[in-house]
Amino acid sequence: MTRLAPMSAAEFAAYFEALIPDYAMDKVTAGQWTPDESQARSAAEVASLLPAGQATPGHHFRVIEDASGQTVGLIWFAAEEQGGQKIAYVYDIRIFPEARRKGHARRAFRALEGLVQELGLAGIGLHVFGHNAAAHALYVELGYRPTGINLFKALGPPLPN
Ligand SMILES: CC(C)(COP(=O)(O)OP(=O)(O)OC[C@H]1O[C@@H](n2cnc3c(N)ncnc32)[C@H](O)[C@@H]1OP(=O)(O)O)[C@@H](O)C(=O)NCCC(=O)NCCS
Repeated sequence: MTRLAPMSAAEFAAYFEALIPDYAMDKVTAGQWTPDESQARSAAEVASLLPAGQATPGHHFRVIEDASGQTVGLIWFAAEEQGGQKIAYVYDIRIFPEARRKGHARRAFRALEGLVQELGLAGIGLHVFGHNAAAHALYVELGYRPTGINLFKALGPPLPN
């Protein structure tokens, strides 16, 4: 059975170290930030979201354990207000590269649903970058539906008159 187990301080520290550059890279890939500004902006966003790091109230960090107790990934979510109700917002889920495509994320989300209900939260929200086809496919399969879609079309220089 897949379990969402408590994350140790050492596990959080390793995760946190990768979080800022990874988020910066996603924002650059999405065309929203330049490479030069990305590290500072990512660090600022993370600092404002997690002023007390792992101990920030309302934020939950869990490792994902497979049926044998082996850690195969991690998940970060927070209890947030949305549309007049309290929901769980998933900030991140990661399955370690060598453990991907074995159903761990699908089972982790099922386990999360149970945990979220135990916490008295009404649903699960999340964001996915347009370039993240794997995560998007996962969420569609799990029954998540878009609540808003950002679109962008790159244009070349104007044609001469
Ligand atoms: C996205 C991610 C969490 C998926 O984890 P996973 O354990 O490999 O996913 P699962 O094996 O549970 O896949 C469940 C379903 O999701 C879809 N899916 C998962 N990975 C996919 C991929 N690379 N391409 C297409 N569909 C994919 C499939 O429908 C899959 O079902 P199937 O294998 O029976 O076809 C993993 O690729 C990951 O950690 N990526 C890097 C971090 C990330 O992008 N996190 C999401 C942030 S929003």
